[in-house]
Amino acid sequence: MSIRKNACLMAEIERIAEVAGYLWTKGWAERNGGNISVNVTALMTEEERNLPALTDAVPLQDTMNSLGGQIFYVTGTGRRMRYVAQDPFAHGALIRVATDGRSYDMIAEQPIAPTSELPSHLLMHNYLLANGRNNRVVLHTHPTDLIGLTHCRPFLDSEKLTRTLWSMIPECRIVVPRGIGIVPYEIPGSLDLAHATIKQLAHHDVVFWEKHGILAVGEDIIECFDAIDTLSKSAQIYLNARMAGFEPEGMTDQQLDDLVPAFGLDH
Ligand code: 13P
Ligand code: ZN
Repeated sequence: MSIRKNACLMAEIERIAEVAGYLWTKGWAERNGGNISVNVTALMTEEERNLPALTDAVPLQDTMNSLGGQIFYVTGTGRRMRYVAQDPFAHGALIRVATDGRSYDMIAEQPIAPTSELPSHLLMHNYLLANGRNNRVVLHTHPTDLIGLTHCRPFLDSEKLTRTLWSMIPECRIVVPRGIGIVPYEIPGSLDLAHATIKQLAHHDVVFWEKHGILAVGEDIIECFDAIDTLSKSAQIYLNARMAGFEPEGMTDQQLDDLVPAFGLDH
């Protein structure tokens, strides 16, 4: 049985490829920078969900209590986004979490070792499902301007960073209404990074990893890309103003607050 016959699944894989291409053309994906995971369980038939494993079960360091039987498209470790864009099943795979949440195997299309950030991705999916949030997507990427801001100590403060970026253009608060969480520097791919990240998801859908990169969670991969892209636009306005020698004025608190009822935003 070929999963390529599943039109719904393949449409989702094409959207992943589309976004992988954007990450590369944006200059956010040097070498193998960034990774993507998308929960595709609901797009698969019972028969597809029970496909024979292509690999032995790989143990997970943490038990994923809410992910038993869930299936994810995950980009491969060391894989380049520009090639994920061209052929997502040559540079990523469908992994299936065991019913006890303690391991995963691979079911399609060929065995590709998943991203080194799998602990963070799975822990985030586990947290989101456990809390009833239908956020099927975790997108991690390396935007130059946003990472640059995390080298500036005053911006390692969630409120200050959120307010500064929101105040550059109205769309920023509209597209990223829950603001930005910040995780102080941790070793990439580590469990410490993963655990620190899920703490931020209680209040935010976008998280900055200090001196490393950005993560967005959401229902739709295009929306996740758009959130990071809008933040990047705000960062460019801020940094361009600073480079031109002036401190950008920013929208006032009143102007920012007026957006909440006007666009029905969450506080
Ligand atoms: P992977 O190639 O293992 O996905 O790592 C890239 C990365 O961005 C690590 O944070
Ligand atoms: Zn990274």
